[in-house]
Amino acid sequence: VAQERRPLGPQAARGTVGLSQDPSIRRYYDQGREHARLSGGDGRLEFVRTQELVLRHLPPAPAAVLDVGGGAGIHAEWLARDGHRVHLVDPVPLHVEQATAAGQTAGFTAALGDARALEAADASFDGVLMLGPLYHLVEHGDRVAALREAARVVRPGGPVMAAAISRFASLFDGLKRGYVAEPAFLDTLRGTIRHGRHENPTGHPGWFTTAYFHRPEELRGEVEEAGLDLVELVAIEGPAGMFDHLEGRWEDEAWRSAALELVRAVEADPALLASGGHLLAVARRPVSAAAAG
Ligand SMILES: C[S@@+](CC[C@H](N)C(=O)[O-])C[C@H]1O[C@@H](n2cnc3c(N)ncnc32)[C@H](O)[C@@H]1O
Repeated sequence: VAQERRPLGPQAARGTVGLSQDPSIRRYYDQGREHARLSGGDGRLEFVRTQELVLRHLPPAPAAVLDVGGGAGIHAEWLARDGHRVHLVDPVPLHVEQATAAGQTAGFTAALGDARALEAADASFDGVLMLGPLYHLVEHGDRVAALREAARVVRPGGPVMAAAISRFASLFDGLKRGYVAEPAFLDTLRGTIRHGRHENPTGHPGWFTTAYFHRPEELRGEVEEAGLDLVELVAIEGPAGMFDHLEGRWEDEAWRSAALELVRAVEADPALLASGGHLLAVARRPVSAAAAG
């Protein structure tokens, strides 16, 4: 991983903070629903699984953790309460406001920032989370630029954990919620399946916003192109994210622990990697300068 600042990807605007990639992303998050996203429905599975995967790879507390695209602070909050020194960056002012407020109680800091051009110094964090930016950067060059920035600011050998939305997430979601019968959704879905680009020109609140949905091998390729060493590529929700079954079952301890055990058992099986909503690439910055290229 080279130490100098890399040029920004094609869609980024150096020197400005904000979502230069697409104004509809900012409009979507300005609705202010992000802070509650992981506390109900399918979000609980995503939250619990993300938490266990992050804990699997993060050094013990107190580690310096940079949460890039950390939103309203849902993960920063529990990490700070666990004793980590967390700083969150996000380009959406509302998220930074919400995270700053949460951070005052939980003990973490937040600031405006863009994954493609981080303010942090080289090798200044023990671990970097990037649970969001990759799927909002629709240009390949921007995603690799963001991963390179994560590789630059993490210490040699430190983990970078980058989430992606699976290529087939909107296919599963559209089938289970019936959206596929709506011509505008079907239209976008046809394209998403082919080339990964998801859009929501109607502004329908359940249809997300402009995003890029990865195939597992693309995520692997981008991580490696950024000069990181892939440690593992796993499905976050896996097959448990495919069906509309969480409501009413999540509170059932026997069901929940069986479901989590099964998801864990198949999390890295290539045949099921794209079965749920999200993928997680866990990578490390190479330790030696020679390996870093
Ligand atoms: C679905 S939210 C996820 C928030 C949180 N990390 C989580 O896991 O719940 C995606 C986040 O990525 C942020 N984001 C989008 N583009 C970004 C960029 N270029 N740099 C950093 N963050 C970005 C959004 O503002 C939003 O907060």
